[in-house]
Amino acid sequence: DWNMSDFLEKAIYDIKQEVKDNKVLCAISGGVDSSVLVVLLNKAIGDNVIPVFINNGLLRQNEEVSVQKAFEKLGIKINYIDASELFLTRLKNVKDPEQKRKIIGHTFIDVFRDFVLKLGDIEYLAQGTLYPDVIESVSVKGPSDVIKSHHNVGGLPKDLKFKLIEPFRFLFKDEVRQLAKQLNLDDSFVNRHPFPGPGLAIRIIGEVTKQKLEILRQADDIIVEEIKKSGFYDKVWQAFGVLLDLKSVGVMGDKRTYDYTIVLRVVESLDGMTANWTYLPYDVLNGISTRIINEVSHVNRVVLDISNKPPATIEWE
Ligand code: XMP
Repeated sequence: DWNMSDFLEKAIYDIKQEVKDNKVLCAISGGVDSSVLVVLLNKAIGDNVIPVFINNGLLRQNEEVSVQKAFEKLGIKINYIDASELFLTRLKNVKDPEQKRKIIGHTFIDVFRDFVLKLGDIEYLAQGTLYPDVIESVSVKGPSDVIKSHHNVGGLPKDLKFKLIEPFRFLFKDEVRQLAKQLNLDDSFVNRHPFPGPGLAIRIIGEVTKQKLEILRQADDIIVEEIKKSGFYDKVWQAFGVLLDLKSVGVMGDKRTYDYTIVLRVVESLDGMTANWTYLPYDVLNGISTRIINEVSHVNRVVLDISNKPPATIEWE
């Protein structure tokens, strides 16, 4: 795409001009935006970009491995911090969705701050802010530059002062995807479904425990695998499981079971603001439910969420 190769060239030039020999910090989530951002920065300033990937213990099955491998393949070194124990400890006994989000947000900042303080002086922070976020958060548009300096990062504590680099602040999501292709990122990376920052914590109703995380990871993995196999993955906005805080009775062989329920949530959407549940073929639904019940211990029931947004949100918390 001509426009995006043009953008790429200008962005690289601008970043080099601004940053010079300084270092730039960048947090990786595993999603498209932050990944493309790191690759772009690496193209512009090489090893002076410092990517940080914090494992909050709320990631999908093998996510921490696949993210590290993806960057390894690109020849980019990332700093991996396993903070899962800290996150899970702080989430103990917490049931309220907003409380969970707050705790996860604060813990992320604490871990990030520790890492930054250990590194010493770092002048820049890069963020994958998109145009829709910019319109949402500021009423006055800045100059149409790819770089905005001397800016305080929303959500970060005041003792962490960075100059902010936001190369995507005039791009939409699909343009970042085009950019990803331009930068030769794997299709599997480019077309990934969105995954919320608070991760599996907001897909486990009630308290988050290691056992529940293990159950949901296995179920979620089966859902994604089956949805991909059916050809629906690229047609839907998101496809995932929710683990309810509810048990019901079942039979397994000649034994009575009393186990958990997984909700299957598959929706189509253009921007996540509104969404419709997807009419999946019965055989796909049956394949998912059979596999989850057979393969995931402590699940004896799978139900389908047939609610549109609004009024139901995509996530359950
Ligand atoms: P809802 O549940 O509000 O979700 O219909 C709309 C889209 O936003 C994602 N989502 C989040 N993403 N942090 C995130 O980074 C969050 O706290 C969060 N909550 C929802 C959700 O996955 C869907 O794509």
